[in-house]
Amino acid sequence: MKREMIDLDTSKIYGNGITPAEVSELKAEMEQCNRMLHERSGAGNEFLGWVDLPSSISEQAFEAIDQAARSLKEVADVVIVIGIGGSYLGVKAILSALSDPFEMMSTDRDYPMLLFAGQNISEDYLYDLFRAVEKRRIAAIVISKSGTTTEPAIAFRLVKNEIERRYGKEQAAARIIAVTDEHRGALKTMATQEGYQTFVIPDDVGGRFSVFTPVGLLPLAVAGIDIKALIQGARDMEQATGAEVSFAENPAAQYAAARTVLYRRGKKIEMLASYEPQLKYIGEWWKQLFGESEGKEGKGLFPASESLTTDLHSMGQYVQDGERILFETVLSVEKPKHELSVPKDDENLDGLNYLIDNNIHRINEINRMAELGTMLAHVDGGVPNIRIKLQQIDEYRIGALLYFFEKACGISGYALGVNPFDQPGVEAYKRNMFALLGKPGYEQEGDELRKRL
Ligand code: PA5
Repeated sequence: MKREMIDLDTSKIYGNGITPAEVSELKAEMEQCNRMLHERSGAGNEFLGWVDLPSSISEQAFEAIDQAARSLKEVADVVIVIGIGGSYLGVKAILSALSDPFEMMSTDRDYPMLLFAGQNISEDYLYDLFRAVEKRRIAAIVISKSGTTTEPAIAFRLVKNEIERRYGKEQAAARIIAVTDEHRGALKTMATQEGYQTFVIPDDVGGRFSVFTPVGLLPLAVAGIDIKALIQGARDMEQATGAEVSFAENPAAQYAAARTVLYRRGKKIEMLASYEPQLKYIGEWWKQLFGESEGKEGKGLFPASESLTTDLHSMGQYVQDGERILFETVLSVEKPKHELSVPKDDENLDGLNYLIDNNIHRINEINRMAELGTMLAHVDGGVPNIRIKLQQIDEYRIGALLYFFEKACGISGYALGVNPFDQPGVEAYKRNMFALLGKPGYEQEGDELRKRL
């Protein structure tokens, strides 16, 4: 039987002229956009492998991932996961959501620790990473769909070098796994030549939609995350948002409709907020998903994120009182994993005993009141509010949530009239960087750019 996945509440977007009828008017359009995804009839249809990906993962695929994860666990205390964009953010988001944030303090771990590289080109970051793992046994998972991305290629050259220096070239192959294209790219060529085990990113799954491929599943399995429960959540959401599911039953279509109405009514920024700090990187993953999918042709909601209540003491002023161009989508978590209460203090020097007098004991109850009070304050300040409620944070619900966002992103992108599955804008910085670095083929552009610096 399906567990409760997520609960979408759009009731606080209404007012200032926005009515439920306006959202309902989009019913047919949203259903049509959803069908286009399933029928592969819209723009970017060569990248729609993610739509039925969760339901198509075989037992053998799980078994292969499990075996590879066990092999790395045997030889390493730390696995360095190398990748950027879609080859980084999904793992980072799920791992952060499901792990104890202070795990790094613990001395006895059941699974290797994952550390990340290739998501920046910072010399100090890489230096510090190597220093941190000096006395640990290391292995690496290098992830790049194209196999040619500069950031992970640089980090991998250093990590490969270090693994070979420590264990010798022969042994290095048992400590490095590549996740990449089946046929193309420098990483594929290198993996074949060096004898690394490889996992394939399917051709028809783009980077930011690849979290349920080995891109996400292999590192997560290494870290001891229950990837079967994660995929079960995604599968149940795949079914709950299927082509034939009506608008009234389809939470992804309803979320897409709400944000489309708000965008068409002049809201330009969607702020994803959560009161649970471990969901911060879900916000980072979500920003890539929606930003790269929708931000093109001079269109698209700007995806921003905030971690609350922390950011109420920084961004809160703007959200409450700045330009009225944004709305909030709150990831609201019902039940924490653990229990902690405010202790009674007879001296009451901090004046907090009123909480206990009012029968408010749990920290979570205070967090909940902060969330509800903020929601009403922001709504009163002209910031419409969408709430996505999760009973708790676990593998099943995170799997469901990420698929929900992927589906809503595909539907919204089609409603916006763009190809949600390409990212032509990402190339501009790469061209300039290659030109400035003197990469063969970019010499003339390099000269021209240098004159402008
Ligand atoms: O969504 C995308 O396609 C991109 O953000 C990529 O994930 C990112 O550029 C990394 O690409 P690659 O996996 O080819 O190294």
